[in-house]
Amino acid sequence: MSILPERVQLKTPEQILMMRRSGKLLHRVHEMLAAEIRPGITTDELDTLAHDMIRDGGATPNFLGYQGYPATLCISVNEVVVHGIPDDRLLVEGDIVSIDGGLIIEGWHSDAARTHIVGSPRSVADEDLVATTREALWAGIAALAAADRVGQVSAAIEDFVSERAGESLSHLEGFGGHGIGTAMHEAPDVMNYRTRSRGPRVRPGMCLAIEPMLIQGPGNWTLEDDDWTVRATAGGRAAHSEHSVAVTEQGLLVLTEGDGGVAELALRGIVAAPDPLADPAA
Ligand code: MF3
Ligand code: CO
Repeated sequence: MSILPERVQLKTPEQILMMRRSGKLLHRVHEMLAAEIRPGITTDELDTLAHDMIRDGGATPNFLGYQGYPATLCISVNEVVVHGIPDDRLLVEGDIVSIDGGLIIEGWHSDAARTHIVGSPRSVADEDLVATTREALWAGIAALAAADRVGQVSAAIEDFVSERAGESLSHLEGFGGHGIGTAMHEAPDVMNYRTRSRGPRVRPGMCLAIEPMLIQGPGNWTLEDDDWTVRATAGGRAAHSEHSVAVTEQGLLVLTEGDGGVAELALRGIVAAPDPLADPAA
């Protein structure tokens, strides 16, 4: 193990175009899953649908086989926060289902997560959990647009959650986002709350996966015997939202969003970078 922190790998515009191709296919996979999720479907079935679509798109799932991980997706239901393994469980109305997935095209990784409520929400608290997690992600992305240091993204997520939810939601402590590129996990860490580190300087070419994970009530959690499933243990349920984002000379490109982040960034007064895939020559 090195005593020096792993270096941040800055990407060229050509490499960001490749990451956009990867992210755009992952966006389409998430759209497909959003349309398929319903009471009575199993998480295994969702996993197979994603696996087939990734393969048909000429890509490879990056979770499958990662440190022995056995599936294409992580599907985390209700009290499971992250890294739930798909199985034959039938989803039912009101379940909170976080779907995390990623893929590789020509060596370039993408990683994104969305949380769905199956059918009608069981409570306003469940709706708030899911909405706050999603908006915390966008608060973090918006902060990246103006940040000098990666730690400002973490601070923005922490502040958004505490202002919006007070003590009613907790961060999953010890987990966070990461750099992404030719590996799924690169430097730097992108925590969802302030740490002692200001983090590295934000520069064009930096690509980050930002991924708030929130739990209702206290943030206590345990790792299950399968060595993957992270479960909240204080009775609350959990949600997770993630996008892979590129910092470019012309602003942010949200690699795993259909429009590159244009609409959500505009809501926050930010102009997204031009989408290199919108160029028919690209
Ligand atoms: N998206 C997850 C993360 O960034 C990766 C899941 S772990 C895996 O932490 F093993 F499933 F790949
Ligand atoms: Co990730």
